[in-house]
Amino acid sequence: MSNLYDTYFKKPSLKSARKRKQKETPNIDFNAHINIKDVGQGKRYLIQTYGCQGNEADTETMKGILEALSFKETNREERADLIILNTCAIRENAENRVFGELGRLKKYKKKNPDLILGVAGCMPQEEDVVNRLLEKYHHVDLIFGTHNIHKIPEYLETALMNKERVIEVFSEEGAIVENLPKKREHPVKAWVNIMFGCDEFCTYCIVPYTRGKERSRSPESIIDEVKGLISEGYQEITLLGQNVNAYGRDFKDRAYTFSNLLEALGKLEIPRVRFTTSHPNDFDDATIEALATYENMMPHIHLPVQSGSNTVLKHMNRKYTKESYLDLVGRIKRAIPDVSLTTDIIVGFPGESEADFLETLDLVRQSDFEGAFTFVFSARKGTPAAAYKDDTAFSEKKDRLKRLNEIINQGYKKGHDRFMNKAVEVLVEGRSKKDDAILAGYTPHNKLVNFAGDPSLIGKRVLVDVTEPKTWFMKGVLHEKS
Ligand code: SAH
Ligand code: SF4
Ligand code: F3S
Repeated sequence: MSNLYDTYFKKPSLKSARKRKQKETPNIDFNAHINIKDVGQGKRYLIQTYGCQGNEADTETMKGILEALSFKETNREERADLIILNTCAIRENAENRVFGELGRLKKYKKKNPDLILGVAGCMPQEEDVVNRLLEKYHHVDLIFGTHNIHKIPEYLETALMNKERVIEVFSEEGAIVENLPKKREHPVKAWVNIMFGCDEFCTYCIVPYTRGKERSRSPESIIDEVKGLISEGYQEITLLGQNVNAYGRDFKDRAYTFSNLLEALGKLEIPRVRFTTSHPNDFDDATIEALATYENMMPHIHLPVQSGSNTVLKHMNRKYTKESYLDLVGRIKRAIPDVSLTTDIIVGFPGESEADFLETLDLVRQSDFEGAFTFVFSARKGTPAAAYKDDTAFSEKKDRLKRLNEIINQGYKKGHDRFMNKAVEVLVEGRSKKDDAILAGYTPHNKLVNFAGDPSLIGKRVLVDVTEPKTWFMKGVLHEKS
């Protein structure tokens, strides 16, 4: 290895990432600790984002930091002086796409040798990925992980001023950084991180390794952020965490849970509150009650079930059963009668039999899901399930996915049909992707609606009469009185 790497070189370790220490979570104040210089003056950046909402929120932070360093955003690769891929490690195909993209971007490096190409997010948290990048992707100049976004100013100064390659990934850390600048993607909808990391260790999942231990932001910081968003005119917030129902579990000095947070937010003047993702095991009655009580709590819950087979759920370490999941669904539906439920499902988990799979189909039918993200199991190195015996042919797994999706798609359609001839509130987000004359937005139940209307309605909540429910969206007309 060349000594170019000496100053900034810290590689990840999955073994350290697995460890959970009992120590207090350090809080870092970005404003107080980070030295901002104009290193981006006259330079342009581009960030490509992969993966979950957590990554989308992180990209907004990266953009905020880069603009504080005087970089300007561009969407043209050939004009960029800095390209960062904010990556996802959840499944193998997510990773392959990023490696492919790195190959494709090499040509820009040839045209502009000063271009800095960076890889951030969850992939750098994996040892194998960093080794592969170091061995085969010499044109990557900057590698950092999910724990050290706040150190971008330092890294860019090193990369730009000293022309050094920067590789720094922390595995053990789990700090909370407050007061990070953000460039929000959307003018009326905002992500609000309420917690980071995950301590669930579902046996298939890489997230507890890439995101570190579970740690909750203080309610005061969250409420302050939301009050700021309200004063800026935001209409909708989505609370983010890998398992939001575990919020507050790590507080050492007080008893404050997710339901307490919802109660506090229920009393604020923010019209719409959403959250993702819920873990069925930690979803308590106090949470259901808060959701049923406050009008600004949107009637859509994403409640990943993963499987309907108790054997598979046990091997996944999900800690609930088909019966207890269905019981939870029943309690939610009784408290919030018109609620829309969506889920995540993995098919082809090691050892999943046809009978196990049929249990999943049965659970799907009984739960009336109105949407789902469905996946074929992907073995992630370092997770327990990657070592489980898996003798189901891939073609069989694909077939199960197809059979599952047929039922899920009927659920999407049914979820739209129930709004036929009804007036729904739509938060107008912009123009439809396919037709500039059409506006698009989401209802409280998180259904996409397209309707003809004046662009001045963008950013407003309006009533729309549903005239044509389809599988993936609903068509409507602006309600006369709205
Ligand atoms: N924390 C969230 C979601 C995390 S990842 C939760 O627990 O619900 C989003 C989804 O990806 C998961 O719900 C799961 O369905 C899927 N997933 C995670 N790891 C996977 C793997 N190794 N193979 C296939 N799908 C996976
Ligand atoms: Fe992964 Fe399970 Fe944590 Fe979700 S709850 S992030 S699936 S380990
Ligand atoms: Fe992917 Fe990391 Fe999110 S692995 S799903 S980007 S937490």
